[in-house]
Amino acid sequence: MSTTGDNQPTSPATLTTNGKSYKFPTIAGTVGPSVIDVSKLYAETGQFTYDPGFTSTASCQSKITYIDGDEGILLYRGYPIDQLAKRSNFLETAYLLLNGELPSDTQFEEFNHAITHHTMVHEQLLKFFSGFRRDAHPMAIMCGVVGALSAFYHDSTDVNDPHQRLVASRRLIAKMPTIAAMAYKYSCGQPFVYPLNDLDYTSNFLHMCFAVPAAEYKVNPIISRAMDRIFILHADHEQNASTSTVRLASSSGANPFACVAAGIACLWGPAHGGANEAALMMLAEIGTVDRIPEYVRRAKDKDDPFRLMGFGHRVYKNYDPRAKVMQETCHEVLKELGIKDDPMLDVAMELERIALSDEYFIEKKLYPNIDFYSGITLKAIGFPTTMFTALFALARTTGWVAQWIEMIEDPSQRIGRPRQVYRGHTEREYVDIAKR
Ligand code: CMC
Repeated sequence: MSTTGDNQPTSPATLTTNGKSYKFPTIAGTVGPSVIDVSKLYAETGQFTYDPGFTSTASCQSKITYIDGDEGILLYRGYPIDQLAKRSNFLETAYLLLNGELPSDTQFEEFNHAITHHTMVHEQLLKFFSGFRRDAHPMAIMCGVVGALSAFYHDSTDVNDPHQRLVASRRLIAKMPTIAAMAYKYSCGQPFVYPLNDLDYTSNFLHMCFAVPAAEYKVNPIISRAMDRIFILHADHEQNASTSTVRLASSSGANPFACVAAGIACLWGPAHGGANEAALMMLAEIGTVDRIPEYVRRAKDKDDPFRLMGFGHRVYKNYDPRAKVMQETCHEVLKELGIKDDPMLDVAMELERIALSDEYFIEKKLYPNIDFYSGITLKAIGFPTTMFTALFALARTTGWVAQWIEMIEDPSQRIGRPRQVYRGHTEREYVDIAKR
């Protein structure tokens, strides 16, 4: 595969409809399939395209992330995900996603300093938390509190001002760990822990989650590195449901805090970011290796809604490249924490082995995705299942923000407004209630 941009534009596509032929231009990406530009389709033919779930629709042009689902390749700005996970760190990767290039020493220092010095949240924002029940799901809290940032940082909500966009993007990346850690602390009934500027981004997050005022807490560097790698793996994934939600919300000119809150809401669902929580609950429910065949049978049964959580992906029809790194990270964390016999890991490994050799999963190209091993890892680090998707949201904020900036700066950007095939009643007379 070449990433140098040597794809040639293909010839225009011809569409014949209602007895007339029309030509539509094609646009070639630097790699990957070319697209047919149907933006003039309605104006020229009076017809729309129909594509529920957008399986055949490119909604934008982007230079940020590339996925080859057949080959199992994921690149951030051209760099393979496994190289970034092993050799970069989350903040450097965030810089790369936002700016397009890896930073120099001084660029990284400036970025790191700026993020570190935006980690505190307005003190008044703390009051929001006490409005929630203690058993509120952290994602419910995140939706509310992140949306509320727009009520606090008025000087960075003008999306047309490049400086305000820069400040908003840094605020979001910096404050997400603080807000996620506060959501966690609130659920445990423990006091909030303020950020510490001499800790790196991820160690600071772990400190805010697990330190208590009564004792000194030292961040384990191996766990911090593993967590950092998990953040890198989740940082961006091109036009997935939550990123598309952020782009659609932003296309109206809404402020970035409100748009990221919309992304968090979308991420929450079990078919998307909520799958890491669902995968762990499924492994716990299976419990022992001998019960796996029963669950595999259920997953294959058309009349049973049960699915193997952490398996399958809309784009990957091969092993999810993030899942490979996640599996290694999982083993590393369990070894560091001295967890020798984790029954859930036994179930996960056996389930993976059985599913990968089962005709149903082979034929449908259902491989483990990133969520399959992330739950076991996060549980071992000490997070309750309800926090898993909040951690995903924290990391994905970088991607959301990078995609938001790219969208605002794109001159072809217009408000997102899909159309429909109307299948309801044609016009009819209103009937008075007494006559119905
Ligand atoms: N277990 C059993 N069967 C499955 C599974 C699964 N996990 N996933 C898909 N299938 C079957 C599905 O029943 C369908 O069969 P048929 O063609 O006979 O009707 C076929 O595979 C295609 O599935 P689909 O639902 O049409 O595919 P999709 O692209 O719309 O859905 C998915 C992709 C990720 C929502 C789906 O695979 C799924 O629900 N997986 C479990 C949830 C999960 O792990 N989600 C995390 C995705 S990765 C993280 C992220 O991006 O947020």
